[in-house]
Amino acid sequence: MSIAVAPPTAQQPHTPGAADPSPTPDEARALHEEIRARAAARHAVILAHNYERPEVQDVADYVGDSLGLSQQAAATEADVIVFCGVHFMAETAAVLSPSKTVLLPDLRAGCSLADTITADQLRAWKADHPGATVVSYVNTTAEVKAESDYCCTSGNARKVIDAIPADREILFLPDMFLGLWLERATGRRMTLWPGECHVHAGIRPDDIEEIRLQHPDAPLLVHPECGCASQCMTMAADGRISDVQILSTEGMVNFARERGSKKLLVATETGIIHRLQKELPDTEFHAVSERAICRFMKMTTLESVRDALRLNQHVITVPPDVAERASLAIRRMVEIV
Ligand code: 13P
Ligand code: SF4
Repeated sequence: MSIAVAPPTAQQPHTPGAADPSPTPDEARALHEEIRARAAARHAVILAHNYERPEVQDVADYVGDSLGLSQQAAATEADVIVFCGVHFMAETAAVLSPSKTVLLPDLRAGCSLADTITADQLRAWKADHPGATVVSYVNTTAEVKAESDYCCTSGNARKVIDAIPADREILFLPDMFLGLWLERATGRRMTLWPGECHVHAGIRPDDIEEIRLQHPDAPLLVHPECGCASQCMTMAADGRISDVQILSTEGMVNFARERGSKKLLVATETGIIHRLQKELPDTEFHAVSERAICRFMKMTTLESVRDALRLNQHVITVPPDVAERASLAIRRMVEIV
């Protein structure tokens, strides 16, 4: 493994979610009704990421991980896609469905990981590694995707890396923890961009060891963006911890359904607990770190979803030349499952 040297990144503080309070049950019910009626009138589909606020997940037509959401966006017959997620996800939907209107309810919903690399930085990196294959994690801007050969999500990253001929150098960006885990999982050496997600980087091996002591027998589900993902593999190989699964958010939901354990430990953004608990009410879920809250994902509220439909805001578009170049890498990602 080698890690490129990048300029300092604009890390976001590890602060809890946006200040907006949760609605009361009556307020939530009324907003749900209004949103569903407006969505039907506009022939809109509402897509929500697993980290969204509980009440936003509950009003969506589909809740899932980045891969599932991209597949839904590519396949939908709706006229309008309301994307309850972050900006790069809505951009990806706009590239996959250029004839649809894609709405992002709150324009402030960015991603500190996607912000760690610009298209200019990627062009300079590629110039230093002629002939290398560029694999971009989906958490990147459309401009960065347009400079990439493949996109991947945490749900299919291993398969994407395995599909690349063994003699090719791979530049993997922007998440170094996902990259380190992929190197171990696939046995491929890659050159990694030193980006990180401030939420997942904050989940440390100490958090894992502490929760393991409290719940020694429960399976432990870890998102590969976590600062501890590859150390977890080392700890598992050394016998210090057992029953660890490194999974995307949807992989966690599938694992929980299939394993049928009474208790599960979850190392990722805490919004996933709502989804898990809703699907498996008899299972006990414990967040490895209660501090793991993505404030960008929490910016979307029921009011902003209602206003997105009411006022047709905020329309996300990608310039046609960028969309055309990004589309090949994105379509490869959606097809490799
Ligand atoms: P998933 O694709 O696993 O849902 O992850 C998306 C993300 O932003 C993780 O921080
Ligand atoms: Fe980006 Fe991290 Fe939030 Fe995911 S959890 S959207 S990677 S800032």
